[in-house]
Amino acid sequence: MYVCICKQVTDSEIRDICREGCVGFDEIQKKTGVSSQCGKCCELAKSIVEEFTHTTSFSSAA
Ligand code: FES
Repeated sequence: MYVCICKQVTDSEIRDICREGCVGFDEIQKKTGVSSQCGKCCELAKSIVEEFTHTTSFSSAA
């Protein structure tokens, strides 16, 4: 699904970058350009990064 229409960034692309070791939204933004134009995708993009981070932490703890 497209998260950012302006830069044509998908949720899969954001998750793939997270899996490669990305540490936060700022890095995702630098790599993809997400939320660098109109900004309407900012909250959704951040929530995907946070969701991934929480999932990873939980999996690591188990
Ligand atoms: S939808 Fe992402 S910057 Fe516009």
